[in-house]
Amino acid sequence: MLTLTNLHVNFGVEIHDVDLSRLNVPLIFPEIRAAFEEHSLLLFRDQNLDEDTHRRVAELFGPIEDLRDAPDGMPTERAMVSNVSTSGALVADEQLRLLDLQANFLWLTDSTFLQAPAISNMLAGYIFPPTGGNTELVSTRVGWQKMSEKLKQHARDKVIIHRFSQSRKLIDESLASQHVYTKFPDARWRTTWRNPVNGQEALYIATHACAVVGISQDDGMALINQLIDAVTQAEAIYSHQWQPGDVLIWDQRATMHRGTPWPFEKERTLASFVSSARESDGIDSVRP
Ligand SMILES: [Fe+2]
Repeated sequence: MLTLTNLHVNFGVEIHDVDLSRLNVPLIFPEIRAAFEEHSLLLFRDQNLDEDTHRRVAELFGPIEDLRDAPDGMPTERAMVSNVSTSGALVADEQLRLLDLQANFLWLTDSTFLQAPAISNMLAGYIFPPTGGNTELVSTRVGWQKMSEKLKQHARDKVIIHRFSQSRKLIDESLASQHVYTKFPDARWRTTWRNPVNGQEALYIATHACAVVGISQDDGMALINQLIDAVTQAEAIYSHQWQPGDVLIWDQRATMHRGTPWPFEKERTLASFVSSARESDGIDSVRP
């Protein structure tokens, strides 16, 4: 039996007394996965994950995604989220790289712009500045439950178009025009994703959303912004203040996340493996 404590009244749990580097993790994984389905966000503290262990645990959630052009489709190394190391950076130019980090301050769900959406992000924290640099999350499941019936009616059964360059365009046009952001064709998803284990619906959205099928561009963006606003009110936010050794795993079907700024001259380094959803994760419910 896992020992859990709540992170936020809406969602999220810390799981105690689990060392993710131990080889018995696949044996207890069904319990970890059940907590993931129910609580949408898991925190493990005091972990010491090397790249292999990190990959092994992330793969239990789903196949590892790679946004680069690895010839065999497998990432050669894990993506570092850092203002210092350039390894794994999507753009080489320093200024563009800093702009790209700023895009992480927008409300996101990872990879909604891909034809194969993501199920999870497993983020391992290593080095942090003394202040700032939190990761904030909201539950889009609870957000959807609490949304006004009027807005829900308006949003239900709509199809949203997701484009990687859209979230970058909100930061800087020259960033948005980089090949790395324009190379993916648009993806289309319904506004909600139903969890096949517990039947709970959640708003499926991100600042990658750039239009709504069947309504004007302006009306579409207005609806997208209204929906994001509705689920990201201050009281709905869990703000995670990182300590080295923390590992966060979130359910992309039922959360949105963003980073908060920090003094950029101070190092902040995490490592991320995003896993792709499988059909058994309920993709059918969000496919138009
Ligand atoms: Fe992200």
